Amino acid sequence: MSGPVGLDHVAVAVHDLDAAVRRYESLGLRCQHVEDVPSEGVRVAFLPAGEAALELLQPLQPDGPVARFLQARGEGLHHVALRVPDLDAALERARAAGVRVLEPAPRLGSRGRRVAFLHPKDTSGVLVELVEAARR
Ligand code: CO
Repeated sequence: MSGPVGLDHVAVAVHDLDAAVRRYESLGLRCQHVEDVPSEGVRVAFLPAGEAALELLQPLQPDGPVARFLQARGEGLHHVALRVPDLDAALERARAAGVRVLEPAPRLGSRGRRVAFLHPKDTSGVLVELVEAARR
């Protein structure tokens, strides 16, 4: 439950998950895990890259946030995820610094981790996800 904040993953929104996985595997990454995350309306693939991972996101339905992102902007970088040892403490620290948290409470993201998103206007235009490190 302790440790420094680190880069957990970088997420890219895609239209076709299988095609995107093949493309990144051709660059030498390996898909480790594919999962549907109904709370976020996406199917995700994780491709570890050193201590962090590439997360590919494909919408599961046409009206979710990632689907709207793709309609508005096309495929591309969707969010950056930081791994934090204690999500509640990290959210308290963010709020105290004037950074808005997008949901009132953390929810369960992929891999069973607790996650929360920060308002991109408060983080230099990047959607930032905070992911609680796996408890040991
Ligand atoms: Co993510």
